[in-house]
Amino acid sequence: MISKALKQARDFETEYLPYAESEQPRFHVTGGIGWINDPNGFSSYKGEYHLFFQYYPYETKWGPMHWGHVKTTDFIRWEKLPAAMAPDQPYDKDGCFSGSAIELPDGKQMLIYTGVRAVRQHDGRMENVQTQCVAIGDGQDYVKYEGNPILSAKDLPEGGDPVDFRDPKVWKEGDVYYLVAGNRCSDGSGTILLYESTDCFHWTYNGILSACHNQYGRMWECPDFFPLDGKHVLLVSPQEMNAIGLEFHPGNGTVCLIGSYNRSKFHLDRENVQAIDYGLDFYAPQTLETADGRRIMIAWMQNWETSGCRNEQLRFMGQMTVPRELHVKNGRLYQNPVRELEAYRGTKISYRNVLVCGETTLAGIGGRVMDLTVTVRPSSRENIYQRFRMNVAKDGQWFTSIRYKPSVGTIRVDRTHSGFPHDIVSVREFPVSQNRETGELKLRILMDRYSMELFVNDGEYAASFVLYTPESADAVSFETSGVVMLDVEKYDLVFDEK
Ligand code: FRU
Repeated sequence: MISKALKQARDFETEYLPYAESEQPRFHVTGGIGWINDPNGFSSYKGEYHLFFQYYPYETKWGPMHWGHVKTTDFIRWEKLPAAMAPDQPYDKDGCFSGSAIELPDGKQMLIYTGVRAVRQHDGRMENVQTQCVAIGDGQDYVKYEGNPILSAKDLPEGGDPVDFRDPKVWKEGDVYYLVAGNRCSDGSGTILLYESTDCFHWTYNGILSACHNQYGRMWECPDFFPLDGKHVLLVSPQEMNAIGLEFHPGNGTVCLIGSYNRSKFHLDRENVQAIDYGLDFYAPQTLETADGRRIMIAWMQNWETSGCRNEQLRFMGQMTVPRELHVKNGRLYQNPVRELEAYRGTKISYRNVLVCGETTLAGIGGRVMDLTVTVRPSSRENIYQRFRMNVAKDGQWFTSIRYKPSVGTIRVDRTHSGFPHDIVSVREFPVSQNRETGELKLRILMDRYSMELFVNDGEYAASFVLYTPESADAVSFETSGVVMLDVEKYDLVFDEK
């Protein structure tokens, strides 16, 4: 038996999804119809990878949160499944907020999420009470546990705030389950709480894995914690960040804390703190581990700061990033598109050692659904250029520019001319390093109908951007001040024949 609210969401999907089919990106997940935000429950289950997401099917703006659902075997081609959960219980009547999923020993799939209910306070204001809840299912239909919530105010450490207690991420080590969740402590800023359990239903509080201390934003949302390449990595999405140099920008940001895990103190000893993605549209990333041991991350390719500005023509709002393979190298987080994407590469066009001075285009280099890699280097040791700029999604009116200045070592992406009908923030600049010996800078650009994702120097920096540029604007041009030498390799990405 499914609830009235869930049935209504599923019926709505059946009736209206077909109308939005032709509008979809080619390889990025959306809700099909309606609004999505954070990825949830990104996990493997019975040999397939499942992805749920924060979802409001009825409008292209945030509303009472449901969980939408898709699955895949290769991270590129996704199958839409019916909505998985609706806010239909007293403890989640105001939303099924973010969470995660895990396969249980009996073969069932457990969803762990934040149940939200608004409660009137003594001063008359309404405030959310957030608790952690579970639902059990078979990969398509889920039943909420009668013992919900499984974690509530009584499970918080002293000073912990039940209003901001959310986004549980679960994993298993040997026979023990662990879970991290975001909370706010008495200094008003975020903490990541760690819990353990032997059955996933009954949890014991371990301690604070990491605390914000008002240094990187305030509340920390959507934590994820995992071992990688000999280190431990904590991903968080802080609210109310202050800018720090070009590393962190104001507002909702994403932060990666890399260090070693002190198991006896349940504490992450930090060694490096960096932004996860340097673009304008990236938030709430979540990871899974594949059967062959790869750590894959997916994120909401949007940010709360700009999410009010939508393309009114489209019947969906919000996309996920391309799933990315993660590594830690030289203390930094590296990310590259999943290797499965390469199976969708079509015609290749490539150039080597092209000398560029001034503005030029290259025959065959263009497109809006493509995988393009450009390697830029000085034409000689003595001949250092001042500026390199590329424009993509370009025609007479539109362009999105990527500019690199070797003297300051920054990339600046500008999407002012990328189809947005509002004056939202459109420029982001971030520090990068070129190869010290060769002076080379490598840019890999993934384009889909409504996005551009940039991967610099084999994944050392990533930057994601939503674009609403009309699809007819598909040219690519190169511009320099000084002389550069370019290698260019372009593949169309082809999805129809499979
Ligand atoms: C992050 C977030 C989560 C919350 C969800 C609600 O984007 O604010 O903390 O669970 O979105 O949709």
